[in-house]
Amino acid sequence: MKIASIVGARPQFIKCAPVSRELRKEHEEILIHTGQHYDHGMSEVFFEELRIPKPDYNLGIGSGTHGHQTGAMLGAIEDVLKKERPDLVLVYGDTNSTLAGALAAAKLHIPVAHVEAGLRSFDRRMPEEVNRVLTDHASDLLFCPTETAVANLAAEGVTGGVHLVGDVMLDAMNYNRMVAEERSRILDEVGVEPGDYLAITVHRPSNTDSRENMTAILGALGEADRPVVFPVHPRTRKCLSEHGLLAEVPENIRVVEPLGYLDMIRLMAHAEKILTDSGGVQKEAYMLGVPCITLRENTEWVETVEAGWNVLVGADKKSIVKFVSEFMPPRERRYIFGNGDASKEILRSLSEYKGVRYG
Ligand code: UD1
Ligand code: UDP
Repeated sequence: MKIASIVGARPQFIKCAPVSRELRKEHEEILIHTGQHYDHGMSEVFFEELRIPKPDYNLGIGSGTHGHQTGAMLGAIEDVLKKERPDLVLVYGDTNSTLAGALAAAKLHIPVAHVEAGLRSFDRRMPEEVNRVLTDHASDLLFCPTETAVANLAAEGVTGGVHLVGDVMLDAMNYNRMVAEERSRILDEVGVEPGDYLAITVHRPSNTDSRENMTAILGALGEADRPVVFPVHPRTRKCLSEHGLLAEVPENIRVVEPLGYLDMIRLMAHAEKILTDSGGVQKEAYMLGVPCITLRENTEWVETVEAGWNVLVGADKKSIVKFVSEFMPPRERRYIFGNGDASKEILRSLSEYKGVRYG
């Protein structure tokens, strides 16, 4: 089969790495990068570290408002799909690149496979939630990481083509965990000791765009009695600067540029606790057995909360301070994200897929 994979943002590079490796054993892959993320540290570094083949197309769409960005992607992806005529299009996650890819393919009657299907936060103010729902309803094959995701789809009447395969981020983690340990020097570089620091990432508009939320989060971390390492997403850096908060970051917080995947895994693995509003980081904290404090009111990864390893605190300063000092998960940590063979399962289903192009 000729399969076109569409990626564009940081988490999608990580998700596509293990799938692409499997896919290329049996099929032809055309890799399309929308260019949604374009800084070296947000894009190229992942292709280098994860040895993802160079994209066949980089559409160079870049940043913009939701409508302009998604619309520009839609047109540019359509042009490539019409030229390449793939048998199937593979999209990942819940970004604007995901939605544009799924929509462009569906309109051309090319079957769509969605990796990380069925996730719901039930919060339509999140741009990702709209992308998830629309992408799932435009997809022919839906690869779900968790049982909750399968149930979410069923509740919306989506049952055909649904496969519970586990989470491809676990595949990526397993493949790279030891490599990160051997190669990454990040703890020395930022000057922290294993187990004696907090790691934080923040990039959701609900936090970054609110001066009040960012003040509460930084204020709470400033009260921690240990160092905090904060790799800052470009959106967050821009917002902190606009809010006039960049110069006021408390002294114990070490603000660094976005990290490559290997540095990020090593940083998370040895943190005492992780604070985040990222979806991927919540999962990785669980995979690594590090307690996670989620700076949101809701999550798609409800199993991590039910298991007692993740707690939702929003951007409430008092709660953050309390959980940073008191949060203690149970000993047990059951398998939530499958066995680390999600990519192989996806390939099995793709190879067996009998749906043919409609056009
Ligand atoms: C996007 C996704 C989000 C995902 C996140 C992963 C959507 C709607 N959002 O959010 O789901 O969790 O990626 O990181 O698709 N910027 C740069 N350099 C870059 C990329 C972005 O400076 O390489 C800055 C620009 O100012 C841009 C802003 O970051 O306007 C936001 O980028 P964008 O891709 O629109 O959304 P993210 O917040 O990154
Ligand atoms: N990540 C990274 N460097 C960073 C921050 C995150 O490599 O500085 C990785 C992280 O380990 C995870 C993925 O990026 O694999 C998560 O992406 P992000 O938080 O940007 O998006 P989300 O998962 O919320 O969509």
